[in-house]
Amino acid sequence: MDDPIPIITFRNGTEVPALGQGTWGMGEDAGHASQEIAALQAGLDLGMTMIDTAEMYGDGGAEEIVGRAIKGRRDETFIVSKVYPWNASRKGTIAACEGSLERLGTDHIDLYLLHWRGNYPLAETVGAFEQLKAAGKIRAWGVSNFDVDDMQELLSVPGGQNVAANQVLYNISRRGIEYDLLPWCQSRNIPIMAYSPIEQGRVLHHPDLIHMAKAYQATPAQLALAFLLEREGVFVIPKTSNIERARENRGCVSLDITDEDWEALDEVFPPPAKKTPLEML
Ligand SMILES: NC(=O)c1ccc[n+]([C@@H]2O[C@H](COP(=O)([O-])OP(=O)(O)OC[C@H]3O[C@@H](n4cnc5c(N)ncnc54)[C@H](OP(=O)(O)O)[C@@H]3O)[C@@H](O)[C@H]2O)c1
Repeated sequence: MDDPIPIITFRNGTEVPALGQGTWGMGEDAGHASQEIAALQAGLDLGMTMIDTAEMYGDGGAEEIVGRAIKGRRDETFIVSKVYPWNASRKGTIAACEGSLERLGTDHIDLYLLHWRGNYPLAETVGAFEQLKAAGKIRAWGVSNFDVDDMQELLSVPGGQNVAANQVLYNISRRGIEYDLLPWCQSRNIPIMAYSPIEQGRVLHHPDLIHMAKAYQATPAQLALAFLLEREGVFVIPKTSNIERARENRGCVSLDITDEDWEALDEVFPPPAKKTPLEML
């Protein structure tokens, strides 16, 4: 029996397991579809019920994969999707959401995000999000790739206070948000969704991470994910198209890192000493 995944409660009261699944790179090749669907379903079986996708991924193909993976099990999933900034006008956001709903094969998206800031005024996008919420097409909305100044501006527009989450690049090798954005969001109960949580695989080759993981009879991916899961109000959404890796990633919740090893990790991957602009992938 796996240890339970920690739960994060959104400001609207919805409770969601903090370890979910990403889908960037899925839906690009029909030959990989069955493997991608099987991996997502294995993740669901293991309790990783938040699935993150976007109209961008695979040009809608990833949303179709998610739709196929959750067929018959919509009630146990929490679906996150995103609108392109250049679609984020009042009308464009509504149309983009309709397209995503169609590809996902569902009548609502649990959390709908602005993928990154574009040229449309935030007030216009927020207006569209609130309209979609009132119509029951989305349950909540949020943003992605927003730094503290963007968040402050967002909170100043009508309805902006309803932002439910901010999805940003965050992993053990990129700790910049710990300086300001993370505490800023934590103090307002706005969860962070950490994307590229294993740095798209690159951080797994770090010799110190490999060495410490071995001491816990764990893998570097498990240690990198455990590092994020430990933080309050942080969702972690690793992507894998491989059932074995889905199991491996799920296993990160069982790591109990000692105080000495937390300090050792800080030596190898130092927390930020000053403000750095939010990075994006
Ligand atoms: N909002 C944004 O702007 C934004 C940007 C980037 C990502 N995201 C979201 O965040 C999700 C996660 O980020 P990401 O996909 O960029 O990177 P990631 O989750 O850090 O890494 C994914 C890569 O690592 C591999 N992998 C997964 N588990 C592994 C394991 N246990 N051992 C070794 N390799 C493993 C995967 O390959 P296999 O599939 O072959 O296992 C894939 O190549 C995305 O899928 C997407 O949903 C959002």
